Amino acid sequence: MPLSRRNVLGAALLAGTATLLPARAHAASDRVEALIARMTLAEKAGQLSCFNDEVRPVGAVFNPVVDPRGGEAMLADIRAGRIGMLFNGYGVAGARRAQEAALAGRLRIPLVFAADVLHGCRTIFPIPLAEAAAFDADLSERAARAVACETAAGGLHWTFAPMVDVARDQRWGRVAEGAGEDVLLNRLLAAARVRGFQGSDLRRADALLATPKHFVGYGAVRGGMEYAAVDMSAAELRETFLPPFLDAFAAGAGATMASFTDFGGVPVSANRPLLTDLLRGELGFQGVCVSDYDADRELIAHGIAADEADAARLAILAGIDMSMQSGLFVRHLPALVESGRVPVAAVDQAVRRVLTLKERLGLFNDPFRSIDARAERRETGSVAIKRMARKVATRSIVLLRNDGDLLPLPRAGKRIALIGPFGADKANLNGPWSFAGDAKDGIDVASGLRGVMADPALLTVEAGSGVTEPLPGGTARAVAAAQAADVVLLAIGEGGDMSGEGNSRTEIVVPAAQQALAEAMAATGKPVVVLLRHGRALALSGAVRDAPALLATWFLGEQTGPAVADILFGRVEPTGRLPVSFPLTSGQQPWSYDRRSTGRPPPDDQPMAPGRSHWRDAPDRALYPFGSGMGYTRFALSDLSVPAVVATGADVPVSVMVRNVGKRAGTTLVRIDLHDRVASRTRPVRQMKAFVRVTLAAGETRRIDLRIAARELALVASDGRWRVEPGAFDLWVVAGDGVEMQGAFEVR
Ligand code: GLC
Repeated sequence: MPLSRRNVLGAALLAGTATLLPARAHAASDRVEALIARMTLAEKAGQLSCFNDEVRPVGAVFNPVVDPRGGEAMLADIRAGRIGMLFNGYGVAGARRAQEAALAGRLRIPLVFAADVLHGCRTIFPIPLAEAAAFDADLSERAARAVACETAAGGLHWTFAPMVDVARDQRWGRVAEGAGEDVLLNRLLAAARVRGFQGSDLRRADALLATPKHFVGYGAVRGGMEYAAVDMSAAELRETFLPPFLDAFAAGAGATMASFTDFGGVPVSANRPLLTDLLRGELGFQGVCVSDYDADRELIAHGIAADEADAARLAILAGIDMSMQSGLFVRHLPALVESGRVPVAAVDQAVRRVLTLKERLGLFNDPFRSIDARAERRETGSVAIKRMARKVATRSIVLLRNDGDLLPLPRAGKRIALIGPFGADKANLNGPWSFAGDAKDGIDVASGLRGVMADPALLTVEAGSGVTEPLPGGTARAVAAAQAADVVLLAIGEGGDMSGEGNSRTEIVVPAAQQALAEAMAATGKPVVVLLRHGRALALSGAVRDAPALLATWFLGEQTGPAVADILFGRVEPTGRLPVSFPLTSGQQPWSYDRRSTGRPPPDDQPMAPGRSHWRDAPDRALYPFGSGMGYTRFALSDLSVPAVVATGADVPVSVMVRNVGKRAGTTLVRIDLHDRVASRTRPVRQMKAFVRVTLAAGETRRIDLRIAARELALVASDGRWRVEPGAFDLWVVAGDGVEMQGAFEVR
């Protein structure tokens, strides 16, 4: 079953360094040019400035409060043309007030409304990292489309999503926001999420402009520490961190957001080689580049700008089109232009992009597009979006261990003890960036179980511990509950506030109080099923690592309880696979399955061989590497067919027989990894190059045909260009934990 055409298209676009979009700049419309001709410098600076929405605040606070002014003062600034975009407001009524203020301005330029909607607006979906575990671009596109309908109905036009930062250091809290450590999965889901958010026509009332962020390399912060400096080779940038942006831009993304971080000594907000030469010149991106929050002013703290005016100058000249929250453009651009320190052409180019964005969204023709109270009532919390949220949640769950087929549980006849701080808890379902979500709407694990059990009276619930602190008497009560039960479900892991921006952790472990609870549960001798809650891969140990059954359940959002119950009782088979590797210890970070070879790789059967690549206290391996996961049945592979020789530039056809050798129907992910044996640069020890989901009835066998796109064999050579080098490739076909076949071919 060949990969979808989209996937191949996305891959093909990556092959060359040809620009993704027409080389010529989008000629702006006459309306935009006429507006620019009439605008004062102050009005131009206003259009290039965006602020946290104080007219209709969403309630949650996502950023440090900077220069608050209050709703009425904000409306006055809008009327005066000092604001071009508001972000993180919500609700149709407030949007109308703000838009009416904009239309009362001299030039009647409409506002555009944006928000950080990464995984749901009012109905919260699993975090993007969880959704990535479904390995399903079509599902991600449909989920984004459903989210866009609810979001746009809340009076919004633009989302600061998808986050497309490849992340290989699980200490970094923002791993939660993306698609994990693998380049291909990030690329495919970046494009899918852009298509889903934006839909078929940006002028539609349910279209949401997408913003692949944070351009570029944020996931490689030093030590996994939030906001830290980033340094990488040009080849690493082009092979690992840039590709998801290219696929997102090729999918039509209308904006991007510059990263906070220092990149090679120059913060991205002031980095013209990145924001102009690469983003505009080489990639041909024509959309708007918005700064991150107060990031232009942060150039002073970086030690790059002497003062605010200098920071504004550096940012606009580097290629920042919109300044977020600092107000530096409003306060300093007019004087910078008048003094000749910034050419007016640089300002006009940014204004051209912002006004064109508003035009593409149809806001000049209909400033009240997406400001419709009926649509808001119809789309918010609809049955359809809740159903989609539950589907994504169920597909996100990864079964990592199931000794003795302990799972699925019968719906009747078993006494169940649900133990842990996340058993009957609604406060930690959603994870970071849960925009307008309300925790009270969430369905916790206990409620989900009761909704499926034949006799809910057989369920006992004990927290046993707090999230980070022991619970007085909690362990004793939990032990008593466990001893009276037939099976223990242990709902433990990270609290929602331990994940996301500003939440890098040096030790990516289950908090000690919960680990102690897990040890106490193991000591009862009862079978324990760990329901892990997390926004990143964790380094598991002791009774958590050794439990007979382990489900990775991430932050699943509103439908947590029903989804966990669906899987536990076998109403739905677990089909998720890990998008990030679970290490043996935190000290191995950063780590990824596709790390490059070293000159001293240990023998496969001696991972700790003296003098070879490993730590003194750990091998160069993961507990559960990328792609790990199983279902309730088993699969076998046979009859692998790969051509011995492949012409340079040709796709590689791969064919294999897959058999369901279990007693129930099931789905597995058939994945192909490659290793380029000899090349002009060291290559990943293995890296995913194609995958497809396969569903088979019990006992069914099917031949599966995949194609590895030619560009997947390419590397960035020392001259910075992508090319396929002749030579031998190792190939693995994987259909589940321990289910793989190896082959090889030669490119000539
Ligand atoms: C934050 C994040 C960015 C977000 C922006 C606006 O600091 O880095 O992802 O879109 O500010 O909330």
